[in-house]
Amino acid sequence: MIGTDLLGIEDLERESIERILHTAERMQEVGNRVVKKVPTLRGRTIVNLFFEPSTRTRASFEIAGKRLSADVINFSTDSSSLKKAESILDTARTLDAMDPDVVVVRHGVAGVPKRIADVLSAPVINAGDGAHEHPTQALLDLFTVRKRKGRIDGLTITIVGDILHSRVARSNIYGFIKMGAEVRIAAPPPMIPAAVETLGVKAFTSLREALDGADVVMALRIQNERLSGTYLPSVREYSATFGIDRETLRYAKDDAIVMHPGPINRGVELAHDIADHQHSVILDQVRNGVAIRMAVLYLIAGRQERSFG
Ligand code: CP
Repeated sequence: MIGTDLLGIEDLERESIERILHTAERMQEVGNRVVKKVPTLRGRTIVNLFFEPSTRTRASFEIAGKRLSADVINFSTDSSSLKKAESILDTARTLDAMDPDVVVVRHGVAGVPKRIADVLSAPVINAGDGAHEHPTQALLDLFTVRKRKGRIDGLTITIVGDILHSRVARSNIYGFIKMGAEVRIAAPPPMIPAAVETLGVKAFTSLREALDGADVVMALRIQNERLSGTYLPSVREYSATFGIDRETLRYAKDDAIVMHPGPINRGVELAHDIADHQHSVILDQVRNGVAIRMAVLYLIAGRQERSFG
């Protein structure tokens, strides 16, 4: 993967996913030390180019880069020359001229990281683009499930929510299917993409049927910023029909885990207490995100002969 872009899970072979997960195991060990820093990427520069808000992804790319001793620059759109009408591509080319080793891009429009990657010499990591893909989120979700369940192959993963607008759902569908899981989706009909079965998933409009015997329940955020009102009669109705609470969780296996990429709308897609329920692994997902992003940065920006120090 040295020097290559990471734009989506769709493009990754199972072998590459295995390699990232294996590398993340070693990176997690660094995070468990008192001094959480190794010299692996000393002298390398990582630019976080986020055109859309983020808490988890931006912070964990920054922490991951710093734990590997890279210099990390967080580009702020609000105080940049974008405000003077400089284009996104000119902004990216300008930053590229400063010779970063990796550029991490988030944008609200699908395909922008690819367009930037096409004109940059530095490799680009997609940190989420519109409703297209969020590859490092799916990798941290795969990592979390494998750590909790000991395997992915043969598990039943049920993803509940706005599949149509969710880059997290799309990347997770690709990832879990490549790793041998059965993937089910559950949503109101307008939130199920056309011909989604061609991706290899089973689509349900009944939450109970979708959760029956599931090992993993992944709730998605209702994205008010991407909904026009035509997809949902009301948030209250969505919550009553597709919200995960103690009652609906009983349809899944007794040892099912509950996941959510965050940010959570408590009381909408998850009942207030479910995020803190003993079966919830939501904060494990956040923690594991640092190890996954360290692994991805190392594999893309590192040199094979370097050790973890
Ligand atoms: N899961 C996720 O992408 O969260 P942020 O938007 O906070 O980065």
